[in-house]
Amino acid sequence: MGGIFGAVCSRGIGLDVVTTGLKRLLYRGHDGIGIIGLTDGKFVIKKKPIRSDKALEELASIELTSKVLVGHTRFATHGRPSLENTHPLLDCGGEIAVVGDGIIANYEELKDFLIQKGHSFSSRSDFEVIPHLIEEELKNGEDFTSAFLNTLRKLEGIYAIAVLWSREDKIYGAAMGEPLFIGKGDECFFLSSDIPSLYGFSNEAVIIGQGQALILTPQGYTVLDVKTGNVIEELVSKRVKYPVELIDKAGFPHYMIKEIYEVPEAMLRAIAVVQEKYLNLVAMILHSARDIYIIANGTSLHAGMIAGYYFRDLAKLNAHVISAAEFPFYGLENVSIGTAILAISQSGETGDVLRAIKEAKMRGGVVIGVTNIMGSRLTLESNVYLPIGAGVEMAVPATKTFVATLVVLGMLSHRIGVLRGIIDKSDERAFVERVKALSSTLRRELDKIEKIVEDSVKIFEGWDRCYVSSRGINFPIALEGALKIKETAGLQAEGVETGELRHGPITLVSNGYPVVIIAPYEKEAKASSWKVASSVLEYGGRVVSISPPDVDVVGYHVKIPETTKFLSPIASVLPLQLLAYKLGVARGMPIDHPRALAKAVTA
Ligand code: AGP
Repeated sequence: MGGIFGAVCSRGIGLDVVTTGLKRLLYRGHDGIGIIGLTDGKFVIKKKPIRSDKALEELASIELTSKVLVGHTRFATHGRPSLENTHPLLDCGGEIAVVGDGIIANYEELKDFLIQKGHSFSSRSDFEVIPHLIEEELKNGEDFTSAFLNTLRKLEGIYAIAVLWSREDKIYGAAMGEPLFIGKGDECFFLSSDIPSLYGFSNEAVIIGQGQALILTPQGYTVLDVKTGNVIEELVSKRVKYPVELIDKAGFPHYMIKEIYEVPEAMLRAIAVVQEKYLNLVAMILHSARDIYIIANGTSLHAGMIAGYYFRDLAKLNAHVISAAEFPFYGLENVSIGTAILAISQSGETGDVLRAIKEAKMRGGVVIGVTNIMGSRLTLESNVYLPIGAGVEMAVPATKTFVATLVVLGMLSHRIGVLRGIIDKSDERAFVERVKALSSTLRRELDKIEKIVEDSVKIFEGWDRCYVSSRGINFPIALEGALKIKETAGLQAEGVETGELRHGPITLVSNGYPVVIIAPYEKEAKASSWKVASSVLEYGGRVVSISPPDVDVVGYHVKIPETTKFLSPIASVLPLQLLAYKLGVARGMPIDHPRALAKAVTA
């Protein structure tokens, strides 16, 4: 992710215009602010590689007036937060600048090509290839528009960008999977990553469609099809109308529900952010390890538990999955050279995880981090790490980061399976294709699922406790659903393996006690699970069943998309996240900031 806000005007404008826009885009990235102005053919650049809100405060005192101004708030995916990695990024000649949102998936091969051509790079950001590619095109005699379009045609990934050339009072932009909008003011045209940030600057926002480029001048704008270079005449616009206080939630009442709706996008971003080189390296380390520990806390621990199933089924590898809080007492003593520790933490700042890996490294273990936050201590202290690229997650209850973590762990497990000769390369490719397919199904069906889940809330009326149950690869999802309901809705929710329900927990079931049952995907577990569900009804409980449409279920049916066993945890967890959210709203809970919890438990 990342946020872009820029303006091209027929008169000079102050820095405050861009900082106002960027303030509203902070939800898209918090890893530093960069601003570029163009005055008399020269760039003026101000960068602050500190927390973006602080950076904006510090920039407020700087005087900068220009007819062309572009600002960027960064979400670090490639390259930690630092001065060099903060956008804008320049070409060798210092005449072409880019700010970007998203991921350039093939930047490594492009960078190798450019280095061979004599370009030198000053950052580790994937976006730096863009100004160098344009520079290379210009050297080959192309005009700037062709150079820009040719460059876009070489890039793979999911991104939106704004590009400046110091010889023109223009902004070039492109939307290739990430959003971009044009606003029309009196003497200025604006460019932004979302519609609400244009509030007060423009009454309408022109939508830049995916695969489209634009050229913004003080007089107007042109939108082009990147593939053909043809001008696009028919453009769609929307009214800018969000009240300012809702801007950073994009119109949603809470961050949590906004972030649940971002799950489909997070799935695609997770695929794009994984770099071949590191996936291979991590797969190799795990393949050759003598023993493997997967450590994490809370929601990340549940992702780690699912990785345990993936490793066993796809790669015939047994990993010890253990809470990072427990690891120092039962695990650490076995760590030595030959041990691999897969440490998962979306924040990368969880104290239990950081303490555990420090000790493990001292004993000779190799630490692999999996995290959403570049520049976090986990990235600094791991031997190697995999980003999950979910984008900023503001709500304390983790939702999209959990799903993005599962996608990355699924890709990793397939890669190890291929390396060990357990599965074929075609299985690995099929997994990625299925993630994409599930992402678009969820994008289409999420609001339908939300409505059904909302209706199921009545089953919980009058109750302050419930069970959430499943088995097999979805058992950790029962634990995750229970955790989510606890922290978001304040109910005493307990995650129970469905077979285990009969060995004690069922004794509490009577008078409408709510039990959520997630359909298992293991064939042999299905019939027995519905038998247990029927006995819940017999003892007077009420059942909410989460399963695909064609399954015979017991109780209230929340239908989820049909998918494979390995992706079923993703399909199953979304209704539970929505249920936790709906119950929390119905009970008037502080959804985004549950009592006594923080986004990262650092102590
Ligand atoms: C998730 O909803 C919780 N807020 C919490 O359990 C969290 O997952 C846990 O503290 C671990 O956080 P991390 O992934 O940032 O390490």
